[in-house]
Order: sequence, then C-alpha cells, then structure tokens
Amino acid sequence: MKIQAPKGTKDVLPEESYMWQYVENKFREICKLYGYQEVRFPTFEYTELFQRGVGETTDIVQKEMYTFLDKGGRSITLRPEGTASTARLFIEHGFASRPMPQRFYYIISAFRYENTQGGRFREFHQFGIENFGSFSPVTDAEVISLAYNFFTSIGLDNITVNINSIGCPVCRKEYVKNLKEYFSANSQKLCHTCHQRLDKNPMRILDCKEEGCKLIAKDAPKPIDYLCDDCKSHFGSVKTYLDSAKVLYKVDPFIVRGLDYYTKTVFEIVAPVSDKELAICGGGRYDNLIEQIGGNSIPGIGLAIGVERLLMLLEQNGLLPARPQIPEVFVATVGENSLKKAFEIARMLRFEGISTVIEEMGRSLKSQMKYADKIGCQFSIIIGDDEIAKGVCKVRNMKTSSEEIVEIVNICQYLKEKLQK
Ligand code: HAM
Repeated sequence: MKIQAPKGTKDVLPEESYMWQYVENKFREICKLYGYQEVRFPTFEYTELFQRGVGETTDIVQKEMYTFLDKGGRSITLRPEGTASTARLFIEHGFASRPMPQRFYYIISAFRYENTQGGRFREFHQFGIENFGSFSPVTDAEVISLAYNFFTSIGLDNITVNINSIGCPVCRKEYVKNLKEYFSANSQKLCHTCHQRLDKNPMRILDCKEEGCKLIAKDAPKPIDYLCDDCKSHFGSVKTYLDSAKVLYKVDPFIVRGLDYYTKTVFEIVAPVSDKELAICGGGRYDNLIEQIGGNSIPGIGLAIGVERLLMLLEQNGLLPARPQIPEVFVATVGENSLKKAFEIARMLRFEGISTVIEEMGRSLKSQMKYADKIGCQFSIIIGDDEIAKGVCKVRNMKTSSEEIVEIVNICQYLKEKLQK
C-alpha cells in the first residue's frame, strides 16, 4: 500500500507554493509598516508551557495537543499556536528590560488534533503578531487595524471584524459566579468534559464544540454585561480608536475565544468560505499571560491569521495573482562540446536575474524542444559545434517558433529586452 500524508495535513505543490509566498510577502510588508519584527521559535516546547499558557481546561490542551515523551522522558508538545511560545521567548531573552512595547511577528506551522472538516487541519499555518508591554487601548486598535489593512491590501472586502470584551480578573469574578449558576441549572444537558469545566472554568463551556453545549451556551450570561469601570472605559476607547483608524467592526457579545489567557479585548475576523462563515483571524489582549508563565507583570495583545483559510478565501474570490513562469529560458545542447558552453550561458543569464535551466537528460534536440515547451519556457537557446565556432547561438521563441541568431556576448541583453527585465 502507498504511504499517504497523514490525515489533516497538506502538501504544497509548485503550482501552489507561489500563492504561499505571495501572502507571506504581503504579511511581511504590513508587519514592517507597523514596526513589527520577525521571531522564530521551536516547533515543539515543554508541554507545561501550553498547560499554563493556553490553559488546562481548554479544548486545545484537553483534547487537541500532540504530546509525547522524548527519549529523555520529558513531556514535549508540538505547538498548537504561537502566543505562548512568543511569551516564553520574551521572558527567556530578557525583553522586559528593553524599551516597550516590543513588537514581534511570526509565520509558523501549528498542530491540533481536530476533526478535519470545515477548513480545519491538523497541521495548519498561522501568521501572527504579538505586542508586549502596553496597557493602552491604542495598542488594541493598532493590532486590529494591522489585520484589517492586511486583508484589505490583498483585496478582501467581504470580511467582518467582530470585537468583544471579556473583562479582567476583577469583573470576571461576578460574571463567572453568574455563569456557574446558569450552567448548573442546565447541567444535565452538558457533555462530560463540560461537567468537569463547570467547577474549574465555566467560561470554557462557552466555546465547547458539542452541539448540546452550544445550544445551552446560546442563552448564557455574556461577559460584556459584567464589565468593571476600567474594562468598560478601555473597550469604549478601543472602539473610538478603531473608528479613527477607519476600521469597520461589529460588537459581538458571544465571542469568548477558546484560550484561557485572554483579558479585556477579544476579536475574530470572519469571512464566507464555501458556504460557511469561517474565522480567518483571531486574537485579543492577554495582560496576565507573561506572569502566568513565570515572567513579570507585563501586558500583551496579539492575533493570528489562518493561512490555509486565507488562501481558500483568496482563491474563491479570484484574488490570487497569476503564477509566475519558472523557468523562463531553456538552454539546449547538441553534442558533448556544447555542454560547457551551456553552463557558461546559463551562468551569465542567471547572473542577470533570468530563470534558466539547461538540458540534463542527454535527449535529442527534438525532445529537448518538446520538454522546453511543456515546462512553459518562453525562449530556448540552441548551441552546437557550428554555433560555438562562430561565437553565436540560436534563440527560439517557443510561442511563435521563430528563431534568431544572436552573438553569445549579446545574449543577456537580447533576452532581458525580450523578457522585459
Ligand atoms: P486561534 O483562534 O486558535 O487563536 O487561531 C487563529 C486562527 O488560526 C483561526 O482564526 C483560524 O483561522 C486558524 N486556525 C486555528 N485552528 C485551525 C485549524 N485546526 N485548521 C486551520 N486553521 C486553523 C490563536 O491561535 C491565538 N494564538 C491567536 C492570538 C495571538 N491571540 C493573541 N495573540
């Protein structure tokens, strides 16, 4: 039996990889414009980081992590997201003593053992940003506006930015008390996991994916109705700044997010993918995360964009650029002698930025031309003994089949003009 890629994973083929590069470049551009710099961190971390960061009672930690013991007996987990690792990196490298805020971005793969329908993968990719050190609502607006402008810069205008506030530990006490009462009264309808959550962390019931729990959660008390004065005024300012930043948004009191570290502002950006509304971006403020994983009391806020979903959306809306033609030029060889010259010409062309391949299979000239045509080269260069003796080569336009004799010393200039480089 043939071995296939594991369920929930995806190979990226040459006909798709240019799309990945396109969105990655766009994301890097917007990060640069907003002053964010790239960080890279390991694919796996000690499991404890996610238990303490993402939260013991979340779906991610309870059901979805790829966790194993390494050969030294340590519990290791493939990262299910990037925020906890970035916070760990921030602490480990002493960023707390540098000027605040610190702005980081990352492009990562992430791993969650999830059902694989509806735009969910087991290995997926995220573009993320994290901003550490600012309590100000200006930062919330900046972070949301970065995502909003990223999406609009690539032509997506059918997105919806949904924002909410889930309060801080102060106002959450009263909220959680009420939530517990509500769910206790309906406890017979909750799933097994949510029964356990009822005592430890009833807020997590709100993002349970079981149908029965979802139905009860629909009428549960909402955090936005319990905000303390500080959280209320923070949320009010975020909205004002978003208005000034010309970000269109809606307040959605049902957003709670599936990770434990959030405080105050949370948001999701959704868009219609196939026949469903899918979250293409999620994020929020996490003022206690750094402290929870062993650092000083330093606030943070960030977001992550799902790359697979983003590409599905761009494809669906016809917003992907045309695939660039690679390679542009084929250098054909006729006989052993011409091979040396072919290497020389290919070197010259590549030096001028022209994507060039040479014959590597020892085929007849006719087969070489067929190959050059199939791989889409715009021009072929043909050199045999006669041409070498005269210091020239034949250049064949693969579309029109017309041929011209060009002096080898002029070949780069000739092709640069033809290829409009
Ligand atoms: P998240 O909402 O879990 O947040 O993930 C962010 C985005 O990643 C989602 O909106 C979705 O587009 C994509 N995503 C998540 N799971 C999958 C999956 N199984 N398959 C495909 N795409 C997926 C976080 O990960 C937080 N770390 C975001 C954040 C950064 N909050 C603060 N800073």
